Amino acid sequence: MALADFPHDFLWGASTSAYQYEGAYNEDGKGLSVQDVATPPAGTANFQLTSDGYHRYPEDFALFGEMGMKSYRFSIAWTRIFPNGTGEVNQAGLDYYQHVLDELKKYHIEPVATLFHFDLPAALQKQGGWANRATIEAFVNYAKVVLDHFSPQITYYQTINEQNMLFQGAVFAAFKGHGTFKDAVQANHNMFVAAAKVITYAHENHPEIKIGPAPNLVAIYPLTARPGDVLAANTYDSIRNLLFGDVTILGRYNHVAWHLFEQFHAAPDLAPDDMATIAAAHPDLLYFNYYNSETVRAADSSDMLPFKKVLNPFINQNEFGWDIDPEGFRVTLRQLYDRYNLPMIITENGLGAHDTLTDDGQVHDPYRIKYLNDHIYQMRLAIGEGIPVIGYHPWSAIDLVSTHQGFVKRYGFIYVDRGEENDSGTLKRYKKDSFAWYKDVIAHNGDNV
Ligand code: BG6
Repeated sequence: MALADFPHDFLWGASTSAYQYEGAYNEDGKGLSVQDVATPPAGTANFQLTSDGYHRYPEDFALFGEMGMKSYRFSIAWTRIFPNGTGEVNQAGLDYYQHVLDELKKYHIEPVATLFHFDLPAALQKQGGWANRATIEAFVNYAKVVLDHFSPQITYYQTINEQNMLFQGAVFAAFKGHGTFKDAVQANHNMFVAAAKVITYAHENHPEIKIGPAPNLVAIYPLTARPGDVLAANTYDSIRNLLFGDVTILGRYNHVAWHLFEQFHAAPDLAPDDMATIAAAHPDLLYFNYYNSETVRAADSSDMLPFKKVLNPFINQNEFGWDIDPEGFRVTLRQLYDRYNLPMIITENGLGAHDTLTDDGQVHDPYRIKYLNDHIYQMRLAIGEGIPVIGYHPWSAIDLVSTHQGFVKRYGFIYVDRGEENDSGTLKRYKKDSFAWYKDVIAHNGDNV
C-alpha cells in the first residue's frame, strides 16, 4: 500500500506549557498557581525558573523558526491574567502573551493555545478548586477575557489540558484519604460545564475559533483474551478515555462511567441546566495527547476498582517505565474518529529521557528520533486510512520541567543547560540531533517518514 501524503497545510508543531516553560513565577504581577505552591518530589526542580522561557522566548522562537515549525502549542497562565483567578485583569499578563504572538508571527508560526494546563490559581484552590462551582464562572470569565483580547489572532484553542489526568489524580488521592471520590467526580463535572460554556461563548462571539478539549488518550488492552480481562479493559476505557470525549463531544456521560460513580455513591450533583449546557457545546476538533498504551486485567478482591493496571509483556518501556506503543497510537486514532467523527490535532507525544550534553555541545538522542519517527509513521498510515489528523505537536519543543520528575526527564528538541537538577545552570540552549531530524521531516512534509 502506498503511503499517503500529509496534507499540504499540516500543522507540524511542538508543544510546551506555561508553568513548565516560562518560569518568572512571580514577575509582572503574576499570582501563584497550585504548581507554584506545590512541593515537588524530593530532589526535583520546582517550577519557579524552569527554562526561563518568560525572558528567553525570542531566542527560543528563533530556533523554532529555524526548525521550520508551522505551529506552536503553548498554554496561557491564568495567574498572569487574573493573579487570584478572578477580579482585576493584570494588563502585563495580556501584554506578555501579545509579545509572544508577535514573535511567533515573525516566523509564520500558528499559535495553538491552551487556556488551562494544570495551573489553577492557588487562590481558587483555597476555596475548593474545581469542586467549588464558583470556579466554573471564574474560568469562563478568564477565558472570555483571553478570547476577546486575542481574537482574531488565535484560531486554535484547547479548553482544558488533560482533564482526565486531573480527574485520575484526584481519584487516586481520594483512595489515599485526601478528599473524597465524590469531590473528584464533582470537580470533573464542573470542568465539563466550564469548558462547555467557553466553547459556546467562543462560537457565538468569535466564529473563526476552532476550540475543543485536550484529554490524554491511550489504547487500552486486556492482558489476555480471558473475558474478565476484556471486560476490565472495556470498563477502564470507558472511564479513563471515552468519558471525556463522550461528555464534551457527544454531550452525555457514558453509562459505564455513570454506573461506576453510582456504585461508589459519587455521581455528581447536576445543576438544572448543566446537561443542556454541555449538550449545546460542539467542539470543532478533538485535540489530544498520546504517549503510551495501557494494559489491564480483571480486578481481584483486594482491588478497589474493577480493573488492575499491569505491564504488557509485548511492549517495551522507556527508562521512566512508560510503555512505547506507536501502533497503539493508530488504534487510538481509529477508535476516536469512529466514535467522534471530528478532525484531530495531536497536542502532545514524546519521549522523556536523561539526555547527555557532550563536551563539544552535542546531544545525541536517537531514542527520541526513533520514538517520534515511529509515531509519525503510524499517524501517516492513519491519514492514509482517511482519518483526518491535521496537526502534530511533539512534547516538547524545548526542554522544560517535567510534571512529576524534574528537569532531568527531558523531552525537547532543544537542550537547556540547567546544570544539576536544582541549579539554574547557564540556561544556554543547544540543538539536539532530534532538532535536525524534525527540521528535515517538516521540510519534506513528512514524506521521508
Ligand atoms: C502530559 C502533560 O501529561 O504529559 C504535560 O500535559 C507533561 O504537562 C507530559 O509534562 C509528560 O509527563 P511528565 O510527567 O513526564 O512531565
